[in-house]
Amino acid sequence: MEDKKKTLLEKIALAKLGGGQARIDKQHAKGKLTARERVNLLLDEGSFEEIGILVTHRTKDFGMENQIFYGDGVVTGYGTIQKRLVYVFAQDFTVFGGSLSETHAEKICKVMDLAMKTGAPLIGLNDSGGARIQEGVRSLGGYADIFYKNVMASGVIPQISAIMGPCAGGAVYSPAMTDFTIMVENTSYMFVTGPNVVKTVTNEEVTSEELGGASTHSTKSGVTHLTAAHDVDCIKKVRQLLSYMPQNCEEKPMAIPYKLGDEHRDKLEGIVPDSANKPYDMKDVIKGLVDESSFFEIHENYADNIIVGFARLGGKSIGIVANQPMSLAGCLDVNSSKKAARFTRTCDCFNIPLLILEDVPGFLPGTDQEWNAIITNGAKLLYALSEATVPRITVITRKAYGGAYDVMNSKHIGSDFNFAWPSAEIAVMGAKGASEIIFRREIMAADNPEEKLKEKEQEYADLFANPYSAAQRGFIDEVIMPRDTRRKLIKAFSALENKVASIPKKKHGNIPL
Ligand code: HXC
Repeated sequence: MEDKKKTLLEKIALAKLGGGQARIDKQHAKGKLTARERVNLLLDEGSFEEIGILVTHRTKDFGMENQIFYGDGVVTGYGTIQKRLVYVFAQDFTVFGGSLSETHAEKICKVMDLAMKTGAPLIGLNDSGGARIQEGVRSLGGYADIFYKNVMASGVIPQISAIMGPCAGGAVYSPAMTDFTIMVENTSYMFVTGPNVVKTVTNEEVTSEELGGASTHSTKSGVTHLTAAHDVDCIKKVRQLLSYMPQNCEEKPMAIPYKLGDEHRDKLEGIVPDSANKPYDMKDVIKGLVDESSFFEIHENYADNIIVGFARLGGKSIGIVANQPMSLAGCLDVNSSKKAARFTRTCDCFNIPLLILEDVPGFLPGTDQEWNAIITNGAKLLYALSEATVPRITVITRKAYGGAYDVMNSKHIGSDFNFAWPSAEIAVMGAKGASEIIFRREIMAADNPEEKLKEKEQEYADLFANPYSAAQRGFIDEVIMPRDTRRKLIKAFSALENKVASIPKKKHGNIPL
């Protein structure tokens, strides 16, 4: 028996060495942690239980039968984060570059199935050279098995992908189908075809970092939701992100106990400038409203004319979608509509109530926008919000013009409570543009057209550049002071806590993708 126990311990010790000390040193030299170090950092101390540590590949081609590594390049198992169960897989770059074999894929599928069966989040730490070249189509089949399970798990359990090394070829499509992707700066990249293929096909010279590094995907493509300075920062952010999410679509997000106190926030009074054309930072509004230091922004550097992110309000998790007057005057455009629509649907899947902060002069005009389908893309946000059954509240801080008024969670598309600040202007368009159109003849016939325009502008502004016309019709439930907004929101979300809403029975809707 002693011999048998020794054999087991030796096998486990060997497995824990992955591809060996030399390759571990190489990984460290690149500033990367090993798969096991990452898992241990991710999970509550001592909570990790590994599954399949002794799995090996089954390939006999290319002398592979002589290259056996326990675990086959991926560490899989379960543990807890803030005492809540999660399933995890971490690709081990020290074993065949973390490449995906048939058995490697089976291990990932096993934890995906367990996560689904038990209603627990799945976290993937990706660091891989892609398909295990020696295995051919068996590896491709393994990828497809994972993709299929990603789709089946979508909207059922939170799925988070951390990209902590290479992620190329079709392998990128698993992270792309999960709820969140986070990339480590300088040591990770994602692309469908790498720089060499790009050079051959398009003659463009581009580095891996330029083509698919963290800064590219966080600013240009929006493929990644978050970036991290290094591995430790990445793991910290994954833990933080999960703290806003429920375990699965049947549960509510975790709440932190909170006792209602003096919820007035005087700081909110001075944020919106007197001039309707002056920008201000909507993040000041957000920070003034939510629990201290609780705002966790998603897609921070992509389409920054809209802000999306999680926060806590009275200890409870909410999702925020907010126009940002500091960028493009807060106009909605193609990218901001896609960004906000995606975030809205993520919150709706996981029972996270939505707060919409509105200051929007309309959709961004121009050929670039029209030719890039602002119609279809703007419709995504309209559709996503209309369909969302979670509690929804809007606060109009200033402009709510034109079609964008409808889109940004108006009462008409199912919002539960709509508030406006006294500075709100709810109209078809700004007073100047409106007057130029409807009083054109009168202005042209006037002795002093400029003065006439001003007069008409004032007339229109008096009538519509305020929240009262909308409030009279009940499109706004209440006009509230900025300083009272936090208290109102805590109470309103609490009143919506047991909201029951459903959409008509259907196979699935047909969101304009
Ligand atoms: C088998 C692989 C491998 C792979 C790397 N290795 N990629 N083994 N299959 N795909 C092995 C290397 O042989 C090496 O083994 C070890 O991993 C580390 O690789 P290095 O090249 O030394 O590391 P580095 O210099 O950091 O370069 C990393 C890399 C490079 C950029 C990822 O290895 C690379 O280009 N690999 C091939 C990538 C690729 O073409 N993959 C297939 C893509 S197609 P030793 O023994 O020396 O440690 C694909 C399709 C998916 O993925 C489709 C899904 C639908």
